[in-house]
Parts: sequence; structure tokens; C-alpha cells
Amino acid sequence: MSVKNILEHRNSVRHYDPDYKISPELLASFIESASKSPNGNNVQAVRYLIIDDPQIQKSLLPIAFNQQQVADASAVLVMLGDYKAFQDDNIIQIHEEGFQAGYFDESLRDYLANAAIGYYASKSDEDLRMELTRDVSLAAMSLVLLVNEAGLDTITMSGYDSRQLKETLNISERYLDVMLIAIGKGIKAGHRTVRHEVSKVIYRNILT
Ligand SMILES: Cc1cc2nc3c(=O)[nH]c(=O)nc-3n(C[C@H](O)[C@H](O)[C@H](O)COP(=O)(O)O)c2cc1C
Repeated sequence: MSVKNILEHRNSVRHYDPDYKISPELLASFIESASKSPNGNNVQAVRYLIIDDPQIQKSLLPIAFNQQQVADASAVLVMLGDYKAFQDDNIIQIHEEGFQAGYFDESLRDYLANAAIGYYASKSDEDLRMELTRDVSLAAMSLVLLVNEAGLDTITMSGYDSRQLKETLNISERYLDVMLIAIGKGIKAGHRTVRHEVSKVIYRNILT
């Protein structure tokens, strides 16, 4: 199915077959492909906490305002951003790997690494939070496309209590939780949704 086709036909699914299990290998292959998504300076800050233990999934129910999909989906991914990715040692390491792989020469390695280090050095906490939100969101959309391409269903979710989630799943302040994605086999199609006419969302050159 083409990307266009998925986008035309996908809907968020809220009812899942609780007996359907996605293999860890398939889930890992979705994540491997999603990790190829664009990300700022290639610092690779996106982390994926897979929740597929039925008991832990059940414990998410009160945290996610009793949205049943967290219990019934094959897995719930907690989409995280790792603030540590902005540290110099990570940036240097990643660019060294690119150099070792033969993707660029020493001078581009040093230029890119120094540019990235300088870029993050001037950022406020709020800026860094936005950087993580962008990178995680792009990977999340890739995951949605990949999972739907495989004939499975998804729902992205921000309807949960972040503090309780972090406490229950032992997520430290090192990480920003951006959203959940429930993944599984839908047993009831998501309701269809409207979108603005395209002319309503496009501006050209200057906002009017
Ligand atoms: C960031 C984000 C958070 C969302 N959180 C929830 C949620 O907690 N519960 C829910 O039922 N739907 C949630 N949704 C799904 C939206 O309601 C849905 O995408 C929107 O209504 C459009 O419907 P569609 O995805 O079927 O096209 C969320 C979507 C996004 C992008």
C-alpha cells in the first residue's frame, strides 16, 4: 500500500483483539525502520519503551484514564526523548561512527559534530524539550505508517497522566515522554474523521 493510500484510509483504532500478539521481532523491525526518520543533527534521541506484559498494560488503565486500548493492544510503546543525546560525547561518537562507516571525511565529521555541539549549547530547557518533541513525533508518524502498512492498527495517545506513567514505569527525568502508541489488531474500525479542505490550511508566502 502506498503512503498516500495509508494516509487516505487510516483511522485511529480504539478496540483491539486482546489475544493477538505481535512478535518482538516484527516490533523491532518497525522500530528499526522508524529510527531512520529524520532527526535533529542525527543525535538519535528517540527511545522506545515497549510495554507488552499484560499485567503492566493493565496497570496503565487508570493512568490512561481507562482507555481500554492500553490493555487490549498487542503492545503499547512509550515514545521517549533522551536528553542525554544532546551531550557532547554522544554527538562526537555518532559522527565518529559516520566517519568510520565511510559516509564522510574527517573534516566533515569535525564540522558536523562541532556545529551540533554549538547548536545545543545555546538552547534553553524549553528549546531542548521542543527538539525532543520534534524528533520523537517524526519517528512516531513513521511507526504509524509502518504498522498500518503491515495491516495492523495504531492509536497515538497523549491522554495519560505523565507523572504517574513515569513513576509506574520507572522513567527518570533523563527522558521526556512525548506520547504513547498502542499497536495491535483492531476488532472495530476507528470512526472516520473529517479534515479541513486543503485551501483552508495553506498560506502562501505571508500569513493573512
Ligand atoms: C498527539 C496525539 C494524542 C492523541 N491522544 C489520544 C488519546 O489519548 N485518546 C484517543 O482516543 N485518541 C487520541 N488521539 C487520536 C486523535 O483523536 C485522532 O488522531 C484524531 O481524532 C483524528 O482521527 P484519526 O486518527 O482517526 O484520523 C491522539 C492523537 C494525537 C496525534
